[in-house]
Amino acid sequence: MPLIAPSILTTDFTRLGETIEILNRSDADWIHLDIMDGRFVPNISFGFPVIQSIHKIARKPLDVHLMIVEPDKYLEAFKEAGADVLTVHAEACPHLHRTIDAIKQLGMRAGVVLNPHSPLCLLENILNDVDLVLLMSVNPGFGGQKFISKTIDKIKQLKEMLIKADSRSLIEVDGGVTFENARLLREAGADVLVAGNTIFAHPDPIKAIKILKQS
Ligand code: DX5
Ligand code: ZN
Repeated sequence: MPLIAPSILTTDFTRLGETIEILNRSDADWIHLDIMDGRFVPNISFGFPVIQSIHKIARKPLDVHLMIVEPDKYLEAFKEAGADVLTVHAEACPHLHRTIDAIKQLGMRAGVVLNPHSPLCLLENILNDVDLVLLMSVNPGFGGQKFISKTIDKIKQLKEMLIKADSRSLIEVDGGVTFENARLLREAGADVLVAGNTIFAHPDPIKAIKILKQS
C-alpha cells in the first residue's frame, strides 16, 4: 500500500484545526505542508506560525515541501517548527549534498524534489544520501492542476536508478494525483502519494484517503 500524504494547501484555513483532526482520524500517513515564498514559485502560502500550530495537534509526521530560494537559511527553524521530513528542490540548492547533510544532522528525514522539466541525472550522485525523492507531476505553485503524464516514465526510471544504486530512498509524487492515476503511480514505483484536491474537494476526505490508500 502507498503512503498517503494529504496536502492542506487549498483547505479553508479558518478551520485548520478541524482539518488536522480529520487527518488524525484518517488513514493518512503524513501531512504534507507546502511552503512557498513567492520567489521560487509564483505563489506565497504559509510559514512557521502555521506549521507550529499544526505540529501542536497533528498525530502524523509533518512532510514539509520547501518551494523557497535559499532553504539553507531556515533548516533549523523548520526543525523547531515541527518538520519530520524536510524536502528541498534540487533547482534551489547549489550545494545540494551539504543541504541534505544538514537536514539529516538536525534529525529530520531529508528529501530532494525535482520539477517536471529537471532530469533524473541531477540525482545521480545523491541517491545514497537522501531518504526521499519527490517528483513533481505538476509545475509547483498551486493545487488542483492537471497531472503531467510523462511523470509515470520518470518514476519507473528513478526506481531502476535506486535499485541499481542500492538506495533505500522512497519515491514520492506530488501534483494532480487522482483516483484514476493512483494505481499507475503505485505500479510505476511510487511509495508516497501527495494529494490535495482529490482529498479535500471530495465530500468525504476520510473516504477519499481510504480509496487512494487501496490503489
Ligand atoms: C503544488 C504542491 C502540491 C499541491 C498538490 O505546488 O506542491 O503539494 O498542493 O495539490 P493537488 O493534489 O491538488 O495537485
Ligand atoms: Zn507539495
